Amino acid sequence: MSFSLGRAFKPESIDDDAVAQMVAILDQQDAMPSVERLRVWALGHAGPRPGESVIDLGSGTGTMTRRLAAAVGPEGRALGVEPNGMLRGVAEERAAAAGVDAVFCQGLATEIPLPDASVDLVWCERVLQHVPDAQAAIREMARVLRSGGRALLLDSDHGSRVDSDIDPEVAHAITVAFMAQLANAAAARHIPRQAAAAGLVVDPDIGSSAVVFPQDLLVDSPMLRMAAEQAVADGTITRDQADEAIRGQSEAARQGWAFSTVTVFGFVCRKP
Ligand SMILES: C[S@@+](CC[C@H](N)C(=O)[O-])C[C@H]1O[C@@H](n2cnc3c(N)ncnc32)[C@H](O)[C@@H]1O
Repeated sequence: MSFSLGRAFKPESIDDDAVAQMVAILDQQDAMPSVERLRVWALGHAGPRPGESVIDLGSGTGTMTRRLAAAVGPEGRALGVEPNGMLRGVAEERAAAAGVDAVFCQGLATEIPLPDASVDLVWCERVLQHVPDAQAAIREMARVLRSGGRALLLDSDHGSRVDSDIDPEVAHAITVAFMAQLANAAAARHIPRQAAAAGLVVDPDIGSSAVVFPQDLLVDSPMLRMAAEQAVADGTITRDQADEAIRGQSEAARQGWAFSTVTVFGFVCRKP
């Protein structure tokens, strides 16, 4: 199965291949210690309390929705809002199998199907990078939050990419090609300004975790291949440079020393 970033994490990508690919990526990310570190940081700083009403915006396979549901307990309410119907189905199945009382509904980050001031906490993890109008999404989060509520925004900035075994100029061209395929590839750097514009106050302590890709994902990485092909098509690198980038990273990963990361940042945003 070839990787298509253009189709990944789009509400309308509901064919079996696309869904299998998205579920596989989310399961891989769930298993990464670097992803877990930032989740633990965010939950520790401003996580849900028993009895609260929380939403997991862009809930994917529902991993965090289940966790939030456990934290709010039977007196609280955990709702996963997810526009992709197939991913929502996976999340519903997994919650039922785990015996967790979490509910999922259709909705967009820019159109949350809830009344004003009805939510204590919004969890929104690695979603804004896929949303063309992140400012509108953050305004929508502010709308549904009660006074005193928090939005926990965890998102990547793909401009922070580090690849150890690719020539730096080639790596830069590949990163530029990759970022052009995401709706909002530098999502994280805009969040403080967008949150302020939406009337939210961002805690000064901003969390971060470099997501370190495991070696096995770096051998003939479909994601690298896709971005390198795009850079060749854009004319920013040659075919030989693309092949060498893939060969170099794959070889380093086989040896066990490839280092490939992108940083995810965590923002605690409070509604006054
Ligand atoms: C990388 S996944 C992250 C899923 C989950 N938050 C997690 O961290 O495991 C991005 C998610 O955002 C959803 N998504 C994409 N565009 C969206 C939008 N406009 N509004 C809400 N969710 C969106 C995708 O369907 C997908 O579930």
